[in-house]
Amino acid sequence: MADARPFHWEFRPEPVAREIFRIEGGRPLSGSVRVSGSKNAALKLLAAAILTGERCRFSNVPEIEDVRVMAETLRDIGVVVDHPEKNIYEVASGDVEWLFVPLEAAAKMRASFMLLGPLLARFGRVIISNPGGDRIGRRPVNLHVDAMRALGAEIEYRNGYYFARAPGRLRGAELRFPIVTVMGTENAMLAATLADGHTVIRPAAQEPEVDDLLGFLQKMGAEIERTYPDTIEVEGRKRLRGADHRVLSDRIEAGTFMIAGAVTGGRVTLEEAPCDHLEAFVEVLQRAGVEVACDHTIIEVDGRGMDESLRACDIETAPYPGLATDLQSPACVLLSQARGTSRVHETVFEDRLEWLAELGRMGANVRLIDDHHAEITGPRRLHGAEVEIGDLRAGASLILAALAAKGTSTILGAHHVHRGYENIDGKFLELGARIERVAEGTVTTSP
Ligand code: EPZ
Repeated sequence: MADARPFHWEFRPEPVAREIFRIEGGRPLSGSVRVSGSKNAALKLLAAAILTGERCRFSNVPEIEDVRVMAETLRDIGVVVDHPEKNIYEVASGDVEWLFVPLEAAAKMRASFMLLGPLLARFGRVIISNPGGDRIGRRPVNLHVDAMRALGAEIEYRNGYYFARAPGRLRGAELRFPIVTVMGTENAMLAATLADGHTVIRPAAQEPEVDDLLGFLQKMGAEIERTYPDTIEVEGRKRLRGADHRVLSDRIEAGTFMIAGAVTGGRVTLEEAPCDHLEAFVEVLQRAGVEVACDHTIIEVDGRGMDESLRACDIETAPYPGLATDLQSPACVLLSQARGTSRVHETVFEDRLEWLAELGRMGANVRLIDDHHAEITGPRRLHGAEVEIGDLRAGASLILAALAAKGTSTILGAHHVHRGYENIDGKFLELGARIERVAEGTVTTSP
């Protein structure tokens, strides 16, 4: 029976202060930084902890805004979320009170939709807002909803909210996605672990973060495995136990810092880097003429004296193990410095090339052909400018461009970047960058 009490709304996320980065570019970066835990793994692991009433402990959790929003969202539905020390979170979902994920949470972070599968599987009902997320396309969630319905859920959509219920228990099913969907795969995985019977998920996304989640579910006692490269199978269990888990390193952050070394003509070493998860990206850098050395968890990029040797090369994003769409924008900064014309094909999102207009305002020679195709001709010396960040990954790439540019840049919307990169300005300062982060509207001296 629906809870008779009116929905009591506690979640009031602290308004994120609008911030600016001021950067004086043109200085080679050098030194080493540690790669943080993966945002796109941590958010799903926190959601997966709802599948049990027992305590789960996560280490190497990045200190980023999206994790704080996920923690607040969980707390507001009654989940106990402790943050005993930096990069450590403990979750206990014993007495979830409210099965309501509000607009405020969803509008701030698309990954809030990851609560659909586990709440349905464990409690049999949830009201959840249609998520917002980055400005990189329509970002529908129809494939998530279709998967839940295939597992036996009844879901209605009214006024921006999904009203979902699973009378009795979810039932195992053969799930067929028309395209690869990372969070669609992950939502289905979480729901299937407590469903009655066998579930096959195909094509299952192959991103490393999906396998990190799968490993955690196995520690919880779930009978789940990747039976073929694009197939995950689950035998539902009645309950799962608490478990501890260390979040894997963030391959997107690693790739971002690799480009920083290349485009500033410096030498950057990354520690705790996921070399094995960056093969397609490293291949692009090597095709462009960047010297990259990968040794298990250490990556070295030597950009010194590279001005002449950088070569244009065509890139095309694809689901893993292809070139990550999240690394398309950092790669484009590199291509703006390469000799010749590079063709960029963004296959995953329909407007993830829009940000190139901002790169063009810094002097890059970019030509947007359509929503999925662009051309970049170089080398073009970038110059400082005032630019605006639209989404998380483009924001980090504008920082890269500003570090490579001659002169000072002002980057508006810096708060977008703190959603997904732990201490990004502090890490760049460690590498010798001249970067300062100020509240918008602050008059500052030049860095
Ligand atoms: C995940 O988003 C990541 N986010 C994204 O990273 C990443 O870019 C993306 O996977 C692709 O690798 C998190 O893990 C939190 P999809 P997700 O479902 O799962 C369409 C970042 O910056 N689609 O794999 O939402 C969709 O529009 C973010 O960290 C539907 O049509 O992406 C896209 O064209 C950005 N219906 C394609 O599928 C659906 O129901 C692939 O998207 C779901 C997706």
